[in-house]
Amino acid sequence: MNLILLGPPGAGKGTQAKLLQDRHGVAQISTGDMLRAEVRSGSEIGLQAKAIMERGDLVPDAIITAMLALRVTKPDCARGFILDGFPRTVPQAEALDVMLGEMGLALHHVIELKVDDGALVERIAGRFTCASCGTGYHDRFKPTQQPGVCDVCGSHEFVRRADDKAETVAARLDAYHRQTAPLLPYYAAQGKLKHVDGMADMATVSGQIEAVLEGQQSLDSGVGRA
Ligand code: AP5
Repeated sequence: MNLILLGPPGAGKGTQAKLLQDRHGVAQISTGDMLRAEVRSGSEIGLQAKAIMERGDLVPDAIITAMLALRVTKPDCARGFILDGFPRTVPQAEALDVMLGEMGLALHHVIELKVDDGALVERIAGRFTCASCGTGYHDRFKPTQQPGVCDVCGSHEFVRRADDKAETVAARLDAYHRQTAPLLPYYAAQGKLKHVDGMADMATVSGQIEAVLEGQQSLDSGVGRA
């Protein structure tokens, strides 16, 4: 199973991709996580990407597409992959089509998580991650069970993303509407686009995605659309 989770910043792509990875044994490929790892390592790509990401702009297509082409050949992708944050532009989607065609792989689903812009700001502002094991939390929607202690590894250290500041979030949302939203008609034209109501709670969104995977939702049925 190869699928794309499409949606604006904070829509819940990473949250749902991790759940799918655990349930289906497919690899989560987050281009944002890959870029943040490059920034931490101080690599050439990281040096180029850091300022772009902190502004809320998109990293150039050529860099991202080359990274992705290497990543999908890794052994953990043998059972399939969930693309979380890629593609983000029409040229990236076209490059993905070529890449998958050359590898003899199909793209089975493109699932849009539809969330109102107002809700995204609250989701992003409240997000934090365990510095030790990377488990994601939210001040309001997914707090730690014991304040200040990671549920998974017991660490007391947490981090917030540099690009989660209010002014950067506005730029990221703008980039989504200008550069990524055109992917919706692109995949609708391929007959692959489905929608889920990303405003619902995490478990409900997860159930809607499973329904899509089980073929219980018709193509481009518009679930959760205004
Ligand atoms: P990236 O890391 O991909 O960030 P993003 O797309 O902006 O998405 P987020 O990670 O912010 O949100 P998400 O949808 O995963 O939400 P999450 O599950 O965390 O990209 C960062 C930057 O890297 C880009 O700006 C760009 O510069 C660069 N980049 C990356 N890929 C690129 C590409 N392909 N091309 C060019 N540049 C690229 O959820 C958010 C919060 O809400 C969490 O706290 C969560 O607990 C909570 N939450 C989740 N679901 C729900 C729910 N249903 N109800 C309530 N709360 C919820």
